This record gives sequence, C-alpha cells and structure tokens, in this order.
Amino acid sequence: MNAVATAVVTGAGSGIGAVIARHAGKAGYRVACWDVDEAAAEATAESIGDVATSRRVDVTSEDSVVAGYDALDTPPTLVVNNAGLVRFGPLATLSVADWQAALAVNLTGTFVVARHGAVRMGVGQQGSAGGTIVNISSINGIAAAPNGGAYTATKAAVIRLTEQMALEWAAAGVRVNCVAPGLINAGMSDAIYADPEIRRLRQGQVPLGELGTAEQVADAVMFLASPGAAYITGQTVAVDGGITVAALARMARPKSVDSVGADPEQEVS
Ligand SMILES: NC(=O)c1ccc[n+]([C@@H]2O[C@H](COP(=O)([O-])OP(=O)(O)OC[C@H]3O[C@@H](n4cnc5c(N)ncnc54)[C@H](O)[C@@H]3O)[C@@H](O)[C@H]2O)c1
Repeated sequence: MNAVATAVVTGAGSGIGAVIARHAGKAGYRVACWDVDEAAAEATAESIGDVATSRRVDVTSEDSVVAGYDALDTPPTLVVNNAGLVRFGPLATLSVADWQAALAVNLTGTFVVARHGAVRMGVGQQGSAGGTIVNISSINGIAAAPNGGAYTATKAAVIRLTEQMALEWAAAGVRVNCVAPGLINAGMSDAIYADPEIRRLRQGQVPLGELGTAEQVADAVMFLASPGAAYITGQTVAVDGGITVAALARMARPKSVDSVGADPEQEVS
C-alpha cells in the first residue's frame, strides 16, 4: 500500500465506524474520521493517533462532503460509507419526515460521499489512480424485518447502488463493494442487547450461535479494501453468522422425508 494512502470513514464517531477507522489506522492508512457529531469524530481520531484527523461532515449535505474532501492532504484511496440512521416503525404510521431522514443519510449520503470520492480517485479522468469504496448496508437490506420502516428500503438500495457504482467505475480501477452486518453487538444495537432476554433469543436465531462484533465487520471491510480482494467488485458480503441463509432453518420436517433417497448403509443420525 502507498505510504500516504488515505481512508475516509463516515460515521466514524461511534460503534462500527469507530472500529473501522481504528482498523484502517492499524492497516497503515491516514484516516479521516468524519461524523456529524464533531466531538465523537475527534475522540475516535485521538484514539488512533497522529495518522488520524477528524472533521464534522454531514453526509446529507453535498457542500459539507466536498469541504471534507477539499481538506484532505491527498486524495482518498479508501472510502467507507458507514454513517447510518435507523427509523423503525410500522409503515402504516411512519412519517414522511422519518422516511426522508433515513433516506437522506443511508442512501443519498452514500451516493454523495461515494461519487465525490470516486472523482477524486480518478473516475472520468485519464490515468486514474483508482481506489476502493466499501458501503455499509445491513441484513435488513437483504430481508424485511418487523417494523423495518424506511431502514430496510434504504439498506436494500445501498446494495443495488453498490452494484451500479462498481459497474460504472471499474474501468477507472475503482472497486466498490458492500458489507451487510447482521446482529451486531455494538453501536445502534446497544439498546437492543441491553435486554438479556432479547439478547438470548436473538443469539438463538444465529446459526453460528452468537452475536457479531464491530471488529468482525471491520475485518470484512479491510479485506475488501485489501489487495487480496483485487478481483472483487460489486459484491455484498453478509457478516451475519449465517442468519440470512437460515430462512428455512426452523421448518418442521418429518424424519421419513429426510431419509428419502439416503443410502441406508450411510445413514447419519
Ligand atoms: N449495529 C448494528 O447492529 C448494525 C447492523 C447492521 C448494519 N449496521 C450499519 O452499520 C453502520 C454503523 O452503525 P452503528 O451501529 O455503528 O451505529 P451508530 O449509531 O453507533 O453510528 C452511526 C454514526 O453515524 C453518524 N451519523 C448519523 N448521521 C450522520 C450524518 N448525516 N452525517 C455523518 N454522520 C452521521 C452518527 O453520528 C454516528 O456516529 C450503519 O450504517 C448501520 O446501519 C449496524
């Protein structure tokens, strides 16, 4: 990696974003910690050290995003669109204001930060330097959930937006991938897992048997940013302990059906 490679992490002031920023710092990036919460971004940057800077950047404001990029010493080589907002609730009563708020941060914010990052990586120019963008979706973007509200639709759109960006920017050497965290014991889910019974019930639904961590999400982000992922673009990686492939896990099955076609000599209990 280039010694002055710069990573931009949005929503770096809290939860998963703070851990991604720290992992990027450990991986040798200069890290720009962006958050609408200036003090939180500053705290993350301080925890990383001299290679990190912080800035109040509101991803819903194009002017704020452009000013953030203009303040960097070097163009970004990695952009992580992590800032996110939940607006859960029944669709029948969800206000348009809440819908718009989630859309503005989760989808429009991802678009604006990525497009200005991509242009600085060289999209649309001769001799593009290239780079990597990782968008953070959610398992709510893969499957609907009770009272998912606007969150589900915005996170699904982030997955398709990732594919569109990957297709359009591949020729410039800009890879774009997506990470869809599952039941993560961090950040915006802290309130959920403060309830031990909810925690136990949710853990029981995860094939790997436990909640995920912000570190596991950050590991996936850093892999997608690394040379090891040089031939991967447009993909969504679910970091979810298998929960999105478990739709049929609790379906009742008679034993007689499971043994149809099996070799009686090879029967497994
Ligand atoms: N924690 C989970 O269980 C979980 C699961 C799946 C997906 N995710 C996704 O991971 C990402 C990080 O979530 P988290 O759990 O760390 O949440 P969090 O609430 O702890 O952190 C989100 C950060 O985004 C910042 N932010 C909000 N609006 C912003 C704006 N307009 N501009 C800039 N920054 C803004 C907040 O200030 C906050 O620091 C989000 O995209 C979220 O949807 C989280």
